[in-house]
Amino acid sequence: MPAMAQRVAAFGTTIFAAINSLARQHSAVNLGQGAPDFDAPPPVLEAAVRAVNSQLNQYAPNIGLPQAREAIALHAERFYGQRLTPEQVLITSGATEAMFAAILGLSDPNDEIIVFQPVYDSYVPNMRMAGVTPRYVNLYAPHWSFDPDELAAAFTPRTKAIIINTPHNPTGKCYSRQELEIIAELCLRHNVIAITDEVYEHITYDGTLHTRLATLHGMENRTLTISSLGKTFSATGWKIGWAMGAPELVESVNRAHQFITYSVATPLQAAAAAALAMPSEYFESLQAEYQRKRDWLLTMLRGAGFQPFTPQGGYFIMADWRGVAPEHVQDDVQFAEWLIREVGVASIPPSAFYRAEDKHRVAHLTRFAICKRDETLQAAADRLAAIRVSGD
Ligand SMILES: Cc1ncc(COP(=O)(O)O)c(C=O)c1O
Repeated sequence: MPAMAQRVAAFGTTIFAAINSLARQHSAVNLGQGAPDFDAPPPVLEAAVRAVNSQLNQYAPNIGLPQAREAIALHAERFYGQRLTPEQVLITSGATEAMFAAILGLSDPNDEIIVFQPVYDSYVPNMRMAGVTPRYVNLYAPHWSFDPDELAAAFTPRTKAIIINTPHNPTGKCYSRQELEIIAELCLRHNVIAITDEVYEHITYDGTLHTRLATLHGMENRTLTISSLGKTFSATGWKIGWAMGAPELVESVNRAHQFITYSVATPLQAAAAAALAMPSEYFESLQAEYQRKRDWLLTMLRGAGFQPFTPQGGYFIMADWRGVAPEHVQDDVQFAEWLIREVGVASIPPSAFYRAEDKHRVAHLTRFAICKRDETLQAAADRLAAIRVSGD
């Protein structure tokens, strides 16, 4: 009898694991995974140490530590004018658990949930485990915009929710207010819930403003906003996330969360409260630093013969590699493997963010992560520059 359940058998192992392993094998400079190779700011680290030394080491309340929920609510008001009570905030094990608990708590088997493609890799497996059917709507290059008619056609009587990730992984798209208004209008018309994944909310470029769907007219009570500490505070390993919104939505998510993790790391929740209360200069310098890294990586990629798309936000740059690779390289997976083996730089094949029949849409692209130390980016720059030299 096979041990593995049908529920997970089709998942396989992810391309991310395969790329990371190949990168290690070839000592490649890793611009693949979206995790910083530098540490969280000292005040955040110190707050965690203080919490560990202050007897904050037993279970937190199931919905989260009061001071962390309060800090998250205050942060929402400070940056977006969104008014929430701490009771409307649930703390989870990263945005990842928040999304799974949201899907489990807000949809029933045979419901449909709309996602935009490219789609972050955990959403659809979450839906499959919940027995929910994904409906795909494409984002089209170069601006990764959607066709409003295609989106309208994806709504059916079975649609329970729509998931919006902004700023978007992997494209760097930030949904404009106008686009969010189109989505809001459809949600209202079809009585559908929106679930937003805003983990890159503080990383935007060229003055782009992050718009929170929950703040649009009529969406306050039908949007579950998800975010987390990892990207904003360079602490991806802490896995502190949250889901917030109308009490009924949050209670639904908590019904699932209470039986998944029950509660999450207490001292790190205390540190999250300190992090979110940091002064505006912290958030401004984070943006400025990422802007500098993004601009640098764009220049470096162009210089090496890539055609990068300019992201408006997030941790990544998508780039067309066709001006760079030898002829035998046929698709994005082969390209990522070739780049690791022959050049010594790791990137991610974006077809990982597409269902099988749509993978060809991005076969000519690859995804580079920006969230790396200058030394790492320089090492990648040196190796990428060598492609042109050896190709001439
Ligand atoms: C769009 C998106 N959502 C969620 C996550 C994971 O967030 P967390 O680490 O808080 O679970 C990531 C991390 O790469 C991401 O890119």
